[in-house]
Amino acid sequence: MRAVIADGKGGPEVLKVVDLPVPKPGPGQLLIKVRAAGVNRADVMQRQGLYDPPDGNAVLGLEVSGEVAGHGPGVTAPPIGTKVVALVASGGYSEYVAAPAGQVAPAPEGVDLVDAGGIIEVAATVWSNVFMIGQLQKGQSFLLHGGASGIGTMALQLARVAGARIATTVGSDSKVKIARALGADLVINYREEAFEEVLADHGFVPDLILDVVGAAYLRRNVEILGVGGRLVVIGLQGGQLGEMPIGNLLYKQGSVHATSLRARTLEEKRSIVRATTDALWPLLASGTVRPVIAHRHRLAEVSEAHRAIEDPEHIGKELLVVH
Ligand SMILES: NC(=O)c1ccc[n+]([C@@H]2O[C@H](COP(=O)([O-])OP(=O)(O)OC[C@H]3O[C@@H](n4cnc5c(N)ncnc54)[C@H](OP(=O)(O)O)[C@@H]3O)[C@@H](O)[C@H]2O)c1
Repeated sequence: MRAVIADGKGGPEVLKVVDLPVPKPGPGQLLIKVRAAGVNRADVMQRQGLYDPPDGNAVLGLEVSGEVAGHGPGVTAPPIGTKVVALVASGGYSEYVAAPAGQVAPAPEGVDLVDAGGIIEVAATVWSNVFMIGQLQKGQSFLLHGGASGIGTMALQLARVAGARIATTVGSDSKVKIARALGADLVINYREEAFEEVLADHGFVPDLILDVVGAAYLRRNVEILGVGGRLVVIGLQGGQLGEMPIGNLLYKQGSVHATSLRARTLEEKRSIVRATTDALWPLLASGTVRPVIAHRHRLAEVSEAHRAIEDPEHIGKELLVVH
């Protein structure tokens, strides 16, 4: 089968399509014939040598759509040919991937199977961090960093459905419109304005912050949190070593969480995938929430797909169409 690996560390040009044996599904796994794979920021970091796959599989890719093509020992359902999506720790950029059965879900109704290839990683990340950990409630104030990203475009829509008041940061004026259309009440171009000053001007005190920047925003995020506020860090684009005003957090009864979906146990991923699909699939079927797709690329154009996600004007998801 054709699959994509990074031949060394570096730019998009190190990505290569190679021939590999079709994986054999192990105990508790399903074999999936991949229709499409989502491209994620984590894949860019893996290509750069900054984020090794936990299972040592050199094939990139954290999420796919496709159909069931085989069963490993101990697994009998769903039947061959069932259309599904799957969350995987690696191996998504390929014609076939083996996935733990608990991380495979029926493909959502109302969404093209190719577009479905870019949903489960972002949706599971958003659901687990914004609602399971962050406990976002109706009427609360939610600050989301990176509102035009793959993660951001999903988080905005789910927070809007939850009835939150939403502020978000984006890196260019062209992204303001899409962030507003997806549910943001307040959009801040972080390259032009200090987000904490704009929020203060609007009396916006976050109950929850979903952060993709890490160190560079740690102090600023903690200082603007409200009483009982939660900061959930899921990205480190601004570095790993930050300074935290602990006294400020302490007086506000605040909390800071940091999570990695990829590093969670199979059992945790199973329950996150279940909770995510229970909540999101009806919203996709009714058209209340929709995946925001930037471009579709063929597997052979994988370098182009990585250039696209790294383009400062990129919005939403890049997809690799495999079969
Ligand atoms: N921990 C986990 O389990 C997990 C899972 C999935 C994703 N993530 C993280 O979530 C983030 C988004 O992932 P993705 O796949 O959706 O990637 P993506 O589409 O490439 O998005 C990256 C986003 O980060 C924003 N950003 C960069 N620097 C910023 C800053 N200083 N202030 C505000 N926003 C900033 C960018 O905004 P502009 O382009 O507008 O400048 C862009 O929207 C990544 O950091 C990724 O590592 C974490």
